[in-house]
Amino acid sequence: MAKTFKRSYKFAFKSSLLITTFLTLLMSVFLYIFYAINIWHILLFAIACFVFSFFVIQYRVERFIYKRVKKIYDDLTLLESSSFSKTQITTDMATLTQDIDRYAKDKKLEIETLKIREQYRKEFIGNVSHELKTPLFTVQGYISTLIDGAAENKTLREKYLKRADKGVERLIYIIKDLDMITKFEAGNLQLDIESFDIVELIQNVFELLEMKANKKKITLTFDMEYKNPIMVNGDKERLQQVVTNLVVNSIKYGETNGTTEVSIENLIKNKVIVRVTDNGEGIEKEHIPRLFERFYRVDKSGSRKEGGSGLGLAIVKHIIEAHHEKLYIESDYGVGSEFSFTLEKTK
Ligand SMILES: Nc1ncnc2c1ncn2[C@@H]1O[C@H](COP(=O)(O)OP(=O)(O)OP(=O)(O)O)[C@@H](O)[C@H]1O
Ligand SMILES: [Mg+2]
Repeated sequence: MAKTFKRSYKFAFKSSLLITTFLTLLMSVFLYIFYAINIWHILLFAIACFVFSFFVIQYRVERFIYKRVKKIYDDLTLLESSSFSKTQITTDMATLTQDIDRYAKDKKLEIETLKIREQYRKEFIGNVSHELKTPLFTVQGYISTLIDGAAENKTLREKYLKRADKGVERLIYIIKDLDMITKFEAGNLQLDIESFDIVELIQNVFELLEMKANKKKITLTFDMEYKNPIMVNGDKERLQQVVTNLVVNSIKYGETNGTTEVSIENLIKNKVIVRVTDNGEGIEKEHIPRLFERFYRVDKSGSRKEGGSGLGLAIVKHIIEAHHEKLYIESDYGVGSEFSFTLEKTK
């Protein structure tokens, strides 16, 4: 048991003084009536009385407060051992109040964080089931129709099977995205860092998305001709996903006959910045801070029309952050958007 007291003598001093004054006066009156007053006897009595009361009071009060304060400390330490200094228990109320105050503040913060996380978890589960419901019901609808007789008709059968297949594809796509996000958030997704040519990677993405872009008559292009490779360090597969997600967005939310332009610029000595710019619908300012949250979609007709679960940009952010690089967005509503991220150049 720690016994370092921070003493306060004021209380004992004042109390002793009062008791002494009272008893001395009483004694004086007593002596006056029955004997003769001797100033020295009175003085001696006063000193003895004062010293005795002082020590009794000081000791008793300190024991009394110490016991109770110790109990409070013990009770609190049970809850939270780290917040309190174990070596010193004081009878000083200011320190105790401070300690309890700090403890209460810490707890409040902790509870708030837990509440937010709980809310987030609830929302997340709600969002997941909502996103899965739509394609699942579509698939179920087509299959029931087939069972109910549509399977007899060859053209209907093929059409419905194809649609059901599309629905399943969408389900798989959502689950893959979710899987990746969960892995990133749990922190157990390892990056496979290598040196590769970013120009080639972007060219690759352009080729893969050409058909999708053609449907909306959107041109995918570089801002200039990159004749030489630009070598960067990173996880090639995941960065390809970043570029793909950004270019797909620029197509999905781009205007017909629009252009998506990608540029690679030197930023500082060992960094490049990759920009994906479109002249599509743009994003209103109020949505920008939330864009990288999972499931966040801008609830405007244009973006609702396009299928999507709002996971794309959350994944982009996770991948870029795992590389310890920066991600930027600039957008003017009705004018277009530019998403950019930095990468480390290979020396
Ligand atoms: N280039 C862009 N132009 C305009 N709006 C965009 C652009 N990129 C993203 N957005 C807006 O940001 C929202 C979130 O994008 P995100 O890529 O995370 O999800 P999504 O495209 O809706 O779905 P997913 O990518 O998971 O299929 C989109 O719903 C869209 O409203
Ligand atoms: Mg997207």
